[in-house]
Amino acid sequence: MKTSISSGYAELSKAVAQNVIDCVKAKPDALICIAGGDTPLGVFAALVEAQNQGRVDFSRTQFLGLDEWLGLGLADKGSCREMVWHHFFDKLTLREEQICFFDGLTHDPQAECKRVDGYIEKHGPIDCIVLGIGMNGHIGFNEPGASLENTCHVIDLDPVTQTVSVKYFGTPREVKQGISLGLKTILASKKIVLMASGEKKAAIVAQTVNHPTSVEIPSTLVKTVPQANLFVDKAAASAL
Ligand code: F6R
Repeated sequence: MKTSISSGYAELSKAVAQNVIDCVKAKPDALICIAGGDTPLGVFAALVEAQNQGRVDFSRTQFLGLDEWLGLGLADKGSCREMVWHHFFDKLTLREEQICFFDGLTHDPQAECKRVDGYIEKHGPIDCIVLGIGMNGHIGFNEPGASLENTCHVIDLDPVTQTVSVKYFGTPREVKQGISLGLKTILASKKIVLMASGEKKAAIVAQTVNHPTSVEIPSTLVKTVPQANLFVDKAAASAL
């Protein structure tokens, strides 16, 4: 896995955004999947700017949500959908049919998994996926110990993820389960960008790079994919 180290978050975000832009330029109807959470916010801003400056055309691109907290939807501050919508989709000129996102408010999570799996069968494999790294090494909501055979599925969230989740919601919320693309789908992506920023990610970034590949640290599995790259800023690279 090639590692690119940027001087700071702005440069990192631009470098990752350029990967997405290159993918869409090569294939205008590409299927793009970008994580929610804090890490890609600068990427969203860089992509919106690129669109507004005419440097990329998303009019034929398909966008897929990576994961969602079960029980939360667009109206819930800090849900994956709310973050991606607010910072990205809402600022692009997209048609509804260009977006597929998990409905965290579904009463039938299994049917929701089937729906999103069906969408991926139709439009996939994913051409470019941008992943953050959880403090426990999760990618999407594939927590330590996740199965390599999983496609879309419901997950019991790891205690680390439940604790970290408070930063998104402003107020404490009970989030015990998530719904996510599985490792099988993620690792079948044609291009994988694993992204991390800041000192707090330095330890898990070092583990990702140095630990043998293992489902116990899902981010290490990205190393099994030749077309995967790690993009970090200096702070996140500080323990390498
Ligand atoms: C969110 C997601 C998660 C995050 C990870 C890092 O959609 O899939 O895997 O990417 O938890 O979160 P941040 O970026 O907030 O540090």
